[in-house]
Amino acid sequence: MCGIVGYIGNKEALPVLVSGLRRLEYRGYDSAGIAVVSGGRVHVRKAPGKIDALIQSIKQDPAPQSFLGIAHTRWATHGAPNKINSHPHLSCDKKISVVHNGIIENYMKLKNALIKEGHKFVSETDTEVLVHLIEKYYRGDLKAAVIAALRLVEGSFAIGVVSSDEPDKIVAARQDSPLIVAQGKDSYFIASDVPAILEHCRRVIYLKDRQVAVLSQGGVGIYDLNNRKVALKFDKVTMDAQCAQKDGFAHFMLKEIHEQPRVLKRLIAAGLKEITAFEFPKKISNVVVVACGTAYHAGLVGKYIIELLARLPVWVDLSSEFRYRDPIITKDTLVIAVSQSGETADTLAAAREAKKRGAKVISICNVVGSSLTRESNKVFYTLAGPEIGVASTKAYTAQLAVFYMLGLRLAFSRKMISAKAYAGYLKTLGRIPSMQEEILRSKEAIAAVAKRHHNFGSFLFLGRNINFPSALEGALKLKEISYIPAEGYAAGEMKHGPIALIDEYRAVVCIAVDSEIYSKMVSNIQEIKARSGRLIAIASDGNTSIKAYVPEVIRVPKCDEFFSPLLVALPLQMLAYYIAVQRGCNVDQPRNLAKSVTVE
Ligand code: G6P
Repeated sequence: MCGIVGYIGNKEALPVLVSGLRRLEYRGYDSAGIAVVSGGRVHVRKAPGKIDALIQSIKQDPAPQSFLGIAHTRWATHGAPNKINSHPHLSCDKKISVVHNGIIENYMKLKNALIKEGHKFVSETDTEVLVHLIEKYYRGDLKAAVIAALRLVEGSFAIGVVSSDEPDKIVAARQDSPLIVAQGKDSYFIASDVPAILEHCRRVIYLKDRQVAVLSQGGVGIYDLNNRKVALKFDKVTMDAQCAQKDGFAHFMLKEIHEQPRVLKRLIAAGLKEITAFEFPKKISNVVVVACGTAYHAGLVGKYIIELLARLPVWVDLSSEFRYRDPIITKDTLVIAVSQSGETADTLAAAREAKKRGAKVISICNVVGSSLTRESNKVFYTLAGPEIGVASTKAYTAQLAVFYMLGLRLAFSRKMISAKAYAGYLKTLGRIPSMQEEILRSKEAIAAVAKRHHNFGSFLFLGRNINFPSALEGALKLKEISYIPAEGYAAGEMKHGPIALIDEYRAVVCIAVDSEIYSKMVSNIQEIKARSGRLIAIASDGNTSIKAYVPEVIRVPKCDEFFSPLLVALPLQMLAYYIAVQRGCNVDQPRNLAKSVTVE
């Protein structure tokens, strides 16, 4: 949530900042703003809404040429998404400006004290307290003032600060919110995430918690909050800049849906090696998965996989619930934290809590160098490349694939499956990417189903067994991007509530792929039909009988039910996508959501 970017170099800052913001817009798009330093003044331009609105307002009121600036794209936490609450914020004397991602938890206390001292606040944000605090401590040394201010602050932050009194530097810092420092040719950057700097450079420093960076034309210095210099450690980013482009697709989401077979192939080739080489702890009493959103649904599939094959008890917890109760974790509990971004505040906190209680934490993560990866005992990367669409697609199936490989390996190492069975499962997994390709080829048919159903007021998604989580994920995708109320349910539970909702205005998507309990799903379908629900089924190729009672059938290739979540996910994603497009929704940037939820 919220993206920040900063630039200092020999190029005009404004275009660099704006293009960086565009790459970070997935982090929030309630408002955007920039601050550049020029002619002894800080010039701020900001606008509510998307970055295009900011560009329009800069056209009407151009900012002077500058070679240094900071910028922000906001996901509102404190205060409405209007211009006043937009970042950057200014000090009373208008000489210092701050952009911030995170939440200052003790801001009210600090604000009241600053108001008593005469500071004038204009916004409702928690962030504004930072700029006034820095102003309070400013004695001609911006870094020292930032350090003094941050020592008083509780909460999470990634910040960029500029001052017209020191027009040759940007000061940045982080605590529990992501921030990188990057070095280009005669230039330095700060950014919330790598895509913002990809078109300029590859050398990055992943700033650690409670570190402060000072960027100037001549170089960069990193310090701790005791003002002690820290050694610089640059990493090389290997991500392809092309990954952050739409590649001719109408939306990032559609592009990312289409990337899934490729991601899966890559993951099976590279990830499997890594998983095979991994030595699981000698003693594992149980497995606990912590995650949020789509990653939580991947964890639920993981439970079916691990319990079925490795015969270990698995419980899956929403990170936000796990962290605040008193979970039963011992040193023999294997905790798996799942997160695309690796920055989700609740998942990070859950992983920390688990470690504090003595558990080993494995993470399944997509973003290299993210906070979660640095705090885990072992990381399995999903290798899906940058996921820009806010609704997760390729990261989800990649998370599933890691669970399949981990579950199989764990089962094999616990001698629950034979070498022959293990090899057989892997062979089947290897066939999934081409099956996914086949599904993608039927997109016209799925788009047609979407067209016939985009006006339904609500949807119910039903699944059983390992596809119960698929139903939850199908409903989540639809509500995230089309705003149609949608619920996912275990089909067996239908009679305990959702059946009361069924009538001709309710569309019901039944995941009815071939399985041992397929006939149970058929019974559910009959019950829905008897109550005039509008049925859509996702069924296996070759199932001819289903057409007799379901008018709309979306096909997936025949495969072992065990692996079917890797197939079923695609038509569910595409159905949601085409329905949202039909309804004119902004699928890549759905309202109120953010890709990376770095606050609680
Ligand atoms: C947000 C995103 C979801 C994502 C969830 C967890 O809600 O919009 O797509 O599933 O966060 O994010 P993570 O990065 O931890 O997987």
